[in-house]
Amino acid sequence: MASDSSERSGWGEQTRLVTAGRVPSEQFGFVNTPIYRGSTVLFETMDQLSAYDGRFTYGTHGTPTTEALQKAWTELAGAAGTMLAPSGLAAVSVALMSCVSAGDHLLVTDSAYRPTRNFCNGVLARYGVETEYYDPTVGIADLIRPNTRAVLTEAPGSQSFEVQDIPAVAALAHAAGALVLMDNTWATPFFFPPHERGVDIAIEAGTKYLGGHSDLLLGMVSANERAWPSLKATFLALGACPGPEDCFLALRGMRTMLMRLKEAEKQALDMAHWLADRPEVKTVLHPAFPSCPGHEIWKRDFKGSSGLFSVVLNPAPRKAVAAMLDGLKLFGMGYSWGGFESLVVPFDCSPYRSATKWNPGGPALRFQIGFEDTADLKADLDAGFARLRAAS
Ligand SMILES: Cc1ncc(COP(=O)(O)O)c(C=O)c1O
Repeated sequence: MASDSSERSGWGEQTRLVTAGRVPSEQFGFVNTPIYRGSTVLFETMDQLSAYDGRFTYGTHGTPTTEALQKAWTELAGAAGTMLAPSGLAAVSVALMSCVSAGDHLLVTDSAYRPTRNFCNGVLARYGVETEYYDPTVGIADLIRPNTRAVLTEAPGSQSFEVQDIPAVAALAHAAGALVLMDNTWATPFFFPPHERGVDIAIEAGTKYLGGHSDLLLGMVSANERAWPSLKATFLALGACPGPEDCFLALRGMRTMLMRLKEAEKQALDMAHWLADRPEVKTVLHPAFPSCPGHEIWKRDFKGSSGLFSVVLNPAPRKAVAAMLDGLKLFGMGYSWGGFESLVVPFDCSPYRSATKWNPGGPALRFQIGFEDTADLKADLDAGFARLRAAS
């Protein structure tokens, strides 16, 4: 069975997904790369031990299981290398630490995942890094300073769904000598090839579509040649590595990730169009809809849309929204997304946005659409809307 990436590079995406990161002939013919648990790695000679010479040297530096996942992701993301983190948030934090130092200025999109902001405003501030937030619909042109070292983008924002012009951000950042990081969890490398579009460090919360079953936490960070040495050194210095079972589950999830993404896209578009026609809905925030800020950029740069989008309802009191959501049978209420099951969460970005104003004119709901029959999901929401109207 083919094992080298040069042979796979001529194959289609799905074929590469099925074959990357596993060599059955090296694992007694078994199809999947096994779980290697371990801290200590034994060396044959004292010379090898003192030179730290070996493909594997210590558990935090990698095992055959983690290496298989790293190699596969590097190939799929079109990167120079990939580091793994125990969660998506850890992936963001370590990626940021790999490119900023005390005295640096960091630009972060105002639409960033809120815990990312907390890390910048808390930990990075304590270490002397100044974070400034930018409006993703405006960009960074007027904000670059001589000490701007990095720009953290996220497209679309995972609540409000603004799509931003990543190639334009990258051109400006690179001209100023800064690195571009992107939280690419929504699109994944399949719907947005980050490094082809100018991103130096791409972050994927593997917790979402890579895992796909709401049963693991993982972060993937891929980098191009320029960013790779510092990224790798920072991860190794911190020793924050994921457990082998989670890497095994991620490798397993990877085989069906693209198929699940395509199905999520179809399901979510069906639900989003249905919601757009509801009288209770003021607007749909989905990058494939012209009503979504940056829709034209999405059409130009993205290859698809995943299963997460938001809607803004017409004004309704909190108790009416609670009546709607509390009685839902198929939509769970809980954070995260990318699993097989549908979810809904109410949200309000207004308390923490600083470069933009969040004032959508009604209660906002974020939907993660899973693989249930959409007729059943619509019936569940239809009954929910009846409760909303009755309690309004
Ligand atoms: C856009 C985005 N990035 C990163 C993360 C963090 O991932 P994790 O939950 O694995 O820490 C999340 C989690 O919801 C997210 O939505």
